[in-house]
Amino acid sequence: MSYNELKISIKQAEKILFKLFKIKGRVSILPGEVDFNFRIKVNDGEEFILKISRPNENEDYLDFQQKLLKYVEVMGGNLIAPRVIEDVEGKIISEITDEFGKKRKVRLLTWISGRIWSSVNPQLVNLRFSLGEKCGLLTSVLQGFEHEKAQYEFVWDVAQSLWTKKHIDLFSSEEKEIIVSFQNQFEKRLSDYKKLRKSIVHNDANDNNVIVSDDLRSPKVKAAIDYGDAIYTQIINDVAIATAYAIMNHNDPLAAALPIIKGYHSTFPLQEAELKHLYNAIAMRLVITVTMSAISKEKEPNNEYLLISEKPAWEVLKKWSKISSEFAHFSFREACGFKAHPNEEQFLHWASKNDFSLSDLFPNINKDEIYPLDLSVSSKVIGHLNNFNDLELFDYKKNKLQKENPSKIIAGGYLEARPFYISESYDKIGNSGKESRTIHLGVDFWIPENTPVNALLDGEVVVAVNNAGEKQYGGLVVLKHTTETFDFYTLYGHLSVESALINKVGDVIKKGGKIAELGVFAENGYWPPHLHFQIMLSTLGEVEDFPGVAYFNQLNVLKSICLDPNLLFKTEGLQSNESLSNDELIHYRKKHLGKSLSLQYKVPIKMVRGAGQYLIDQFGRKYLDTVNNVAHVGHEHYSVVKAGQEQMALINTNSRYLHENINELAKELIETLPLELNVLHFVNSGTEANELAIRMVKAATGERDVIASEVGYHGNANMCIDISSYKFDGKGGKGAPEHTHIIPLPDSFRGKYRGDDTADRYVEEVQNQINLVHEKGRGVGAFIIEPIISCGGQIELPKGFLSKAYNAIRKVGGLCISDEVQTGCGRMGKTFWGFQLHNVVPDIVTIGKPLGNGHPIAAVACTQEVADKFANGMEYFNTFGGNPVSCAIGVEVLKTVKREKLQENALKVGEYLKEELKKLANEFPIIGDVRGQGLFLGIELVDANLNPLETQTNYLANRMKDYGILMSTDGPDHNVIKIKPPMVFSKDNAEDLIFYLRKIFAEDFMKSY
Ligand SMILES: Cc1ncc(COP(=O)(O)O)c(C=O)c1O
Repeated sequence: MSYNELKISIKQAEKILFKLFKIKGRVSILPGEVDFNFRIKVNDGEEFILKISRPNENEDYLDFQQKLLKYVEVMGGNLIAPRVIEDVEGKIISEITDEFGKKRKVRLLTWISGRIWSSVNPQLVNLRFSLGEKCGLLTSVLQGFEHEKAQYEFVWDVAQSLWTKKHIDLFSSEEKEIIVSFQNQFEKRLSDYKKLRKSIVHNDANDNNVIVSDDLRSPKVKAAIDYGDAIYTQIINDVAIATAYAIMNHNDPLAAALPIIKGYHSTFPLQEAELKHLYNAIAMRLVITVTMSAISKEKEPNNEYLLISEKPAWEVLKKWSKISSEFAHFSFREACGFKAHPNEEQFLHWASKNDFSLSDLFPNINKDEIYPLDLSVSSKVIGHLNNFNDLELFDYKKNKLQKENPSKIIAGGYLEARPFYISESYDKIGNSGKESRTIHLGVDFWIPENTPVNALLDGEVVVAVNNAGEKQYGGLVVLKHTTETFDFYTLYGHLSVESALINKVGDVIKKGGKIAELGVFAENGYWPPHLHFQIMLSTLGEVEDFPGVAYFNQLNVLKSICLDPNLLFKTEGLQSNESLSNDELIHYRKKHLGKSLSLQYKVPIKMVRGAGQYLIDQFGRKYLDTVNNVAHVGHEHYSVVKAGQEQMALINTNSRYLHENINELAKELIETLPLELNVLHFVNSGTEANELAIRMVKAATGERDVIASEVGYHGNANMCIDISSYKFDGKGGKGAPEHTHIIPLPDSFRGKYRGDDTADRYVEEVQNQINLVHEKGRGVGAFIIEPIISCGGQIELPKGFLSKAYNAIRKVGGLCISDEVQTGCGRMGKTFWGFQLHNVVPDIVTIGKPLGNGHPIAAVACTQEVADKFANGMEYFNTFGGNPVSCAIGVEVLKTVKREKLQENALKVGEYLKEELKKLANEFPIIGDVRGQGLFLGIELVDANLNPLETQTNYLANRMKDYGILMSTDGPDHNVIKIKPPMVFSKDNAEDLIFYLRKIFAEDFMKSY
């Protein structure tokens, strides 16, 4: 019978619905594999699903489903599931005769409102947890359900999945290899698998059968629908099926699976024996899917439903085949609260009964005490990574430590998050962006080259190789040890290749026998000689490639496989350096630090290291920084750090003594400024710079009235707050003081005047304020504004505005201040200073943030005339301003901008980024405006009526953080994303940024406005 003859039209469905249930409603077609399904919307808002079966459908099968739903309705408590609607005759299964004279069964169920899983974006941890949770709950409700016709042959039953073997020739060689390997693994363990718990389970929580709540911010699974595949089978198959579909479209399917399994376990506790088979069961469900698709392609080319999940199923299968099944098993155990490795407890017990000394391991070194060497991300021994990469320097430091501690062995590193594996070659793209291997799984012993290393107990050689990859890591030996109840392994890295290779796989080394000798410096392509010693309860099938360093998200599993070597030695000083949580820091800070200090992000981050455009937290996670325009030439730029350190070691005093540094910094700045601006005063912050600028204004003009912009910010001290509308018009503010006069934010996008030619209108506003000051019988002291108003939301001043506004101010004797605290030092790309974009020359320029690359130094540049008037006899003394250390740093920052052509980089990368952001704006109408210059950009999020979208903006910034990208929000309506990264931000960084922005803009919440 052809598909067309089987099909039921909407018209027919409407008729059937009315005849059997006396219900009228709007009918639409839904996808379905076996049944023909229709969604019914009744006027009163109620909704149903009408299911019409194919001819000759087995009534037992339908009876089973309907009884099951009835059972869930009675026993399910709060569990949401479709309810069975009886027909006008009170039957739960009705019958019709179709136009070809065939009998068809009809059922009506209630509709569960919400979204289909496959349409939900993103599918994050909490959502996946709730999927497991709901599926587990359903299984637990079904524990009491029985039906005599429940057991039957079924292709989608994982337990019966080996039927796929006879179709293996449908696949090409690569695909065949993957499928055969899974089939073989499944078959090998079939007898064990058959003993697992069984019950009736839903068996089909696939991505089109799961309903998710409409809450876009924290969606949860409401229910599984379509009970047509429910079957009596191993319970673990139900978990496997829900998992197999929900891990599609994730870079790391194993990591994606864990919350689902955790959720399932929370409502239906899984057994350890079941978890052993989960990896295979997931694989076999996918094998069934791809086999069914391959068969269907031939049979029913018109039924698209059958082909829907083929592509993502293959993607997962391919990735799944590369995951160690053992590692997956241990991960599942950890997710369910068991010890990740089943032998962990046994090892702990064994280790507590057996003592080993360091001199057993190193018989030639008669030392049993440890000097702990901290090589964690925040280690001061490491210091700047450039220093650390200078191996001679590190060797010298280490040898010095050894001399100072002659009776100790220098060692450490277990579970230490280390910074030097952070190069791109250690990166992988996980479910939350780039991930680096950072967690060290063994202990490093920093002992002399050629030191003999002995076996602590009898062991069989399972690996003896020259461990040369991209780099030379010396010889590697792994021994297998057998105790009465379990086996474990010890790993020895960085041995001399020659001595390591004397061992042959299968050799037995007796306790106290020599394994090998430590390699010399040259054999160990990085770092001075040291033994990497690691304990492993399993080799995860990767005997030679077992990792010595782990990804952070695998830590909890790997630390159960790679146990603490100090369990053997029980030596003080060798304790693990596992990074602690931030709770204590947060608690103390809340109690004892200023109450109005805020913390970024709902889950605050502790940053312990900066490197260029990246910040690194204590776990070694690397964040791309698009926020910090203070770290102008890059976080912890080596030459800037060095300049500060070197000068600090010599002298730091106030500017009353002569010193080259202050002059040199003045020269460097003057070189960048217009000729008129050639006198400098050095201060310690942007605030101080603006305070001083206003003092200069008062001294030079005799006036104290200042005109400033709405939402402008100029600093945190009294005078600065008085001219900062951002503060006095914001939370806790009391409005403009008597002597401050505010013009509307000159925003051509959403400001008082909009469009291309708004300069004159905003200049009129300046003139209005001038007039107002005059009306009060006073004169104008100054006009202060940023060339791009940062806190205002990266507002570019309208073309022509600044020069006309300056003219108006000067006409009445006022001074013009350009606040370059954010915009200065090359960030604009086209020009070194922001005011230069507008072809004006201010009377005073204030310079802050970027000048010290994080060190507190700021400056005020002014004309000779202003400087002369300010020098009225009162000494200007500033304890720290202009000190030799700060000036050394400032000079190096400015030289670095020139040497590394960072202004050019800001122009090139900034323009590229702006173009790409504009493309995004075309794709996502929520982006109302893209603006800014160089690496000082902003994107504004609005609805179709230009209403600001603060919650979406916040959501975006928080989601970007999930992907390891830091972004900030600002603007009077908090709906602008600001982009102002360190100036070393590269085109690759811009591409990454755009990639993740595009991903997040496509998420459901970003479209909900
Ligand atoms: C434009 C502008 N001016 C002045 C300041 C004050 O600088 P500081 O925080 O260094 O005192 C800031 C700080 O954010 C600023 O953005």
